[in-house]
Amino acid sequence: MKRSRALKPLSSEHHQALLVSFQLKKGLAGHAESAGAPKDLPGLAALARRFEEQILRPHCRAEEELLGRYLTEADMRRLRGEHVELQRLLDASRESDQRAQLTAFADLLERHVRWEERDLFPYAELHVDEAALATIGGELEKRLVLARSESSKTARR
Ligand SMILES: [Fe+2]
Repeated sequence: MKRSRALKPLSSEHHQALLVSFQLKKGLAGHAESAGAPKDLPGLAALARRFEEQILRPHCRAEEELLGRYLTEADMRRLRGEHVELQRLLDASRESDQRAQLTAFADLLERHVRWEERDLFPYAELHVDEAALATIGGELEKRLVLARSESSKTARR
């Protein structure tokens, strides 16, 4: 099924998430070809931190706040649980065992995004009516697209 326009901002961040997951896995496994990712551990940790701050946190909040009420209880529990676990793995990677924690983070990130794209979003697209989807889409645009292009403008100044 084609992704509804309303959910596109989330889906385009999922592409970025899959790229980060791939880069972390390749980099951590010491592959020569790592899609432009850093190969040393501090570089990979910095990549994960940038992704966390710029994408992951606002993304998870937007999903929970905007889609939450339309999901089944079980799906919402899984959504929240995996968001918490992703954050926990990143926090833990700053304490000890960086390589193992970042590997677990990259694995869960990929599984989580694939579940959302294959199961969760198609469910939402079927169960949320057009008007509500349009409202969600407008809010996602504001939170994830416009807010970001504003902050990158400030960063360039
Ligand atoms: Fe997501």
